[in-house]
Amino acid sequence: MVELVPGRERIFFDWVTAAEVEAAIKHEHIAFPPDEADSPEQFRYRFKHAKHLFLGAFAASDQAKGRKLIGHVCGTQSPLTYYTKESMSVHVASSPSICVHSVVLLESYQKKGIGLQMMREYLLRIQRQISSSEGEYRHGKPERVLLVTHDEVRPFYEKAGFICKGKSDVALGQGVWYEMSYPLKQSSSSTSK
Ligand SMILES: CC(C)(COP(=O)(O)OP(=O)(O)OC[C@H]1O[C@@H](n2cnc3c(N)ncnc32)[C@H](O)[C@@H]1OP(=O)(O)O)[C@@H](O)C(=O)NCCC(=O)NCCS
Repeated sequence: MVELVPGRERIFFDWVTAAEVEAAIKHEHIAFPPDEADSPEQFRYRFKHAKHLFLGAFAASDQAKGRKLIGHVCGTQSPLTYYTKESMSVHVASSPSICVHSVVLLESYQKKGIGLQMMREYLLRIQRQISSSEGEYRHGKPERVLLVTHDEVRPFYEKAGFICKGKSDVALGQGVWYEMSYPLKQSSSSTSK
């Protein structure tokens, strides 16, 4: 588990549980305008069908019991090599593209490096699962992680290792969207002799 220590809270990353999905939905609606926020149904669908792609950032302290969700990254898998709006509501298991639909950190935790740590942890966990012969990717390994972003947030994703593929055709709320892609390494053990 990755840990940072801003103030007296411990920040760490872990998979989101069923009890925490409603908090993630609330955070989504705080972070995005109504025409960009994903719906509660989309969130519940993603948790039900692709919980292996639903990572949370959590805060814990000695004063409070348990852990508090402070951010999340969630996605689905798609058979296409580019990001589509359909992938926001459909998960096709064992597909080559992981489409990330929501990256959010509560405002009071922003600008401390936690968002970037969360994104890197997400990519690292996927990469580790690809290298394993068990688990979610045993019937088909993802080759890339895709997402769309507005121009101003591009530097954030570039710092995490994403490459900008240019403007996306996706129509969602206001403004132009750019497609970002992160190439996943395929494990050497899957290479035949
Ligand atoms: C985007 C978000 C997850 C970033 O989290 P964060 O913890 O504030 O980001 P970090 O502190 O880890 O930033 C890491 C780097 O990315 C850059 N960055 C972070 N947010 C950025 C933004 N909104 N625009 C441009 N660059 C950004 C920072 O400048 C920082 O670089 P630096 O270390 O050289 O200063 C967070 O701001 C958020 O939840 N925003 C609201 C929802 C949102 O816009 N999500 C993305 C939708 S595509």
